[in-house]
Amino acid sequence: MVLQTLLLFSLLLFSTEAAVQDFCVGDLAAPESPAGYSCKPAAKVTVNDFVYSGLGAMGNTSNLIKAAVTPAFSAQFPGLNGLGLSIARLDLAPGGVIPMHTHPGGSEVLLVIQGTICAGFISSSANKVYFKNLNKGDIMVFPQGLLHFQINSGKGPSLAVVSFSSPSPGLQITDFALFANDLPTELVAATTFLDVAQIKKLKGVLGGTN
Ligand SMILES: *[C@@H]1O[C@H](CO)[C@@H](O)[C@H](O)[C@H]1NC(C)=O
Repeated sequence: MVLQTLLLFSLLLFSTEAAVQDFCVGDLAAPESPAGYSCKPAAKVTVNDFVYSGLGAMGNTSNLIKAAVTPAFSAQFPGLNGLGLSIARLDLAPGGVIPMHTHPGGSEVLLVIQGTICAGFISSSANKVYFKNLNKGDIMVFPQGLLHFQINSGKGPSLAVVSFSSPSPGLQITDFALFANDLPTELVAATTFLDVAQIKKLKGVLGGTN
């Protein structure tokens, strides 16, 4: 009985002494692991670790896709490290598109701030397509890991804010994965059933070789 009481007492003591860690501001000097960055020493953390001003300016849309994604992931905004969320800004010039892509690490919710955006995703189970024209104030959710896209479907520029359920959701654009590297053309053809001429054309545009 005495032993049991002692045991209970020490368990209680242990649980009340267990520290709660409020935050883990990422130490960007150390490598990122699947669990995120290691923590910057608490004594060195300031309010500026929890504030990021990089989304105030429009991204540069003078590019092939006429669009820009400006991320505030943990690599840009280390205060997010360990908190399970992040945010980004999406600028789409007229005719702009965020080509078919996935975020392997998180689900996404998009809020249209300006303009009109045609957005959609494809399910992995039945390859069913869900897409819709979104107007200012509309939000749409894109489940983790699924292929999805955004197209400026209006006449003027469009702006959206996207939020992710991961501080480091990742981004893989399908066309870049297939045509912007040195994967040999015959392997791209064999694995996609596309014509060699079309593959070479896309490799030329996107900077791929072989
Ligand atoms: C936008 O990007 C283009 C192409 O890289 C570049 O030529 C241009 O100077 C950039 N504009 C600004 C304002 O940075």
